[in-house]
Amino acid sequence: MRCLVTGAAGFVGSHLAEALADAGHDVTGVDAFTPYYPRAAKDANLVRLRDASHVRLVEADLVTTDLAPLLDGVEAVFHCAAQPGVRASWGERFAEYETANVLATQRLLEALVGAPGLRRFVYSSSSSVYGDAAARPTREDAVPRPHSPYGVTKLAAEHLCGLYARNFGVPTVSLRYFTVYGPRQRPDMAFHRFCRAALAGDAVTVHGDGHQTRDFTFVADAVAANLAAGDPEREVDPGTVVNVGGGAITSVRDVLAILGDQLGLGGPVPATYGPTVDGDVRHTSADITRARDLLGWSPRTGLADGLAAELAWVRATVDREA
Ligand code: UGA
Repeated sequence: MRCLVTGAAGFVGSHLAEALADAGHDVTGVDAFTPYYPRAAKDANLVRLRDASHVRLVEADLVTTDLAPLLDGVEAVFHCAAQPGVRASWGERFAEYETANVLATQRLLEALVGAPGLRRFVYSSSSSVYGDAAARPTREDAVPRPHSPYGVTKLAAEHLCGLYARNFGVPTVSLRYFTVYGPRQRPDMAFHRFCRAALAGDAVTVHGDGHQTRDFTFVADAVAANLAAGDPEREVDPGTVVNVGGGAITSVRDVLAILGDQLGLGGPVPATYGPTVDGDVRHTSADITRARDLLGWSPRTGLADGLAAELAWVRATVDREA
């Protein structure tokens, strides 16, 4: 298949582009290299892709670029590009979230109306659309009630996927990822920060009491969900929304205990506990029945193995930076 991966230099996008190339697909990867975190980290994510055959990398912003050359002949679009980060989406920065998450998605969908060869459009959505869900594990038919401006933009883009599906038959599937972690995780995210601090012998900073829980999802599992959702042989109604949760529902305190164990500290990674941060939800938990039924997908990597893989990657990254 001819595939387009947006956000190809990012955390999930770079892994996904590699997996598609490894499976023999023609991959165009596009990325705007926005300055949310250092470009060097994104360049490092692309090392394997730059050498891969059947891969073309384009630096462009989906909001301003002419999309036609990127979409020409494309059969599957994997839309991972976004302005991420729950806690940074307040105030003046909201404009960046609105532009990168809503407007860019609308431009892509508009450009794909009537695209003859398009067989699937897989949108990287987020568990943040649920906010503090009333019922857990949370099913896709729960009424979404985001708790952060970021979540509002992810939900708005998901609605765009739904309405372009209903009005024009654009074959969208939205995957609601639950806190993805693993090698290449963004530097603002919890596990990455915890691994770096612990390796440096510093205390980590926990937002709140550390008893908040997340349904942490290993990045290879998120990639596998994309591959299943992007497979045009799999019957999925346009506009479908699917939870992608790793099944490893764990508190931040328990993560610090596992990490301390893996580092041989004889106890949890030392932490200072600060105030909760606006926009953060208390608990997340995915009902993944639909992913199982529709995509034949279920998570394969448990938290201890996934965290060990991320720790090894952070260690190698820190060594390289030294
Ligand atoms: C993550 C991603 O950042 C979002 O882009 C994604 O959409 C979202 O998951 C999702 O599932 O929808 P988050 O759950 O906040 O958001 O992920 P982490 O940054 O890994 O944070 C997990 C928990 O650790 C949060 O409660 C956070 O407040 C806490 N944390 C984070 C700390 O206590 N200290 C830190 O230094 C960083």
